[in-house]
Amino acid sequence: MDNSHKILEATIANYDHCADLLRADEVIGVPTETVYGLAGNALNESSVRKIFDVKGRPLIDPLIVHFSNIDSAEAHIAVNQSARKLAAAFWPGPLTMVVPKRATIPDLVTAGLSSVAIRVPQHPVFREILKRLDFPLAAPSANPFGYVSPTQASHVAHTLGNRIEAVLDGGPSNFGLESTIIDLRASEAPAILRHGPITEDQISKTLGIPLSTHIETAADDTSAQTAPGMLTQHYSPSAKVTLLEHGAINSNLADKTSALICNQKPEWYSKQCNVFWLSESGNLNEIAHNLFALIQRLDQQNYKHLWIELTLESGIGQAINDRLRRAAAKIT
Ligand code: TXA
Ligand code: MG
Repeated sequence: MDNSHKILEATIANYDHCADLLRADEVIGVPTETVYGLAGNALNESSVRKIFDVKGRPLIDPLIVHFSNIDSAEAHIAVNQSARKLAAAFWPGPLTMVVPKRATIPDLVTAGLSSVAIRVPQHPVFREILKRLDFPLAAPSANPFGYVSPTQASHVAHTLGNRIEAVLDGGPSNFGLESTIIDLRASEAPAILRHGPITEDQISKTLGIPLSTHIETAADDTSAQTAPGMLTQHYSPSAKVTLLEHGAINSNLADKTSALICNQKPEWYSKQCNVFWLSESGNLNEIAHNLFALIQRLDQQNYKHLWIELTLESGIGQAINDRLRRAAAKIT
């Protein structure tokens, strides 16, 4: 069904309307600088339950809570020195911190964990909404559970439009990949839980200590409590995904039902069908920005098989490759 009428332009009247919906415990699609989120009142159990229902997300996978600034977060979390340093350096922006929670955050939000993931987003449209509310917003990525994250309002309308009242349009998400997640429960031993736009190097320089990486995959993907959200298979389109090492692309792989996705325009390209690239020059930020949108477009065009080239592992390339590996994984 065409749900494009649910996409609302970013106007003052629509900000007010969306704030009213959220006050009435509804959930809506909102733009962020990383990916679009499915937002609801983080302090209200009925809204939080709707988020899980609309996404089809298991209750063992906790949500990120979004605040307008670190001061408004302090009533709900215990802020330590490391959190303060990282907030000063990277907020508002694409960094999520896992910190000890206070009782005001419902257990439903955190899947019963004593910690909560928090973020202060940068997108001006999201900030306009937060400004109108006296509660924080829980918001996972606005995709059906396990599917590719949305980076445009139309992606949300297409996949979840039947189940929500509105998606606020803030244009294409700038970064195009979900935020970096850092575990700060033990401030002397910070650990990266999910790679993203803010790199390990940037965080470790800001804190002045090395980080460990705990990007685990739960042994059986049902014990998400130990490694929430780190499911092996995630971000998966309907098409089968096969990964190619960086540079190992081959024009023969693309045919009528399969597409080849390269980092940059291949030197050998001369109007071959079904060959796509994510950046003219191979720029990693452009590749991240365009990746999920291209995958969703090809999925909608009913390609059965996507061959995708991995990127270099530097900077945001680590996050791109992480998402690609999960997109390609199939649980049997
Ligand atoms: O960029 C983003 O982070 C987007 C935008 C909307 O802010 N949100 C997002 O949320 O990606 P979501 O729910 O799709 O991914 C959040 C991840 C999940 O893997 C979840 O398991 C993990 O964060 N998470 C949440 N709370 C946690 C906690 N207390 N401890 C460990 N992991 C947690
Ligand atoms: Mg997600």
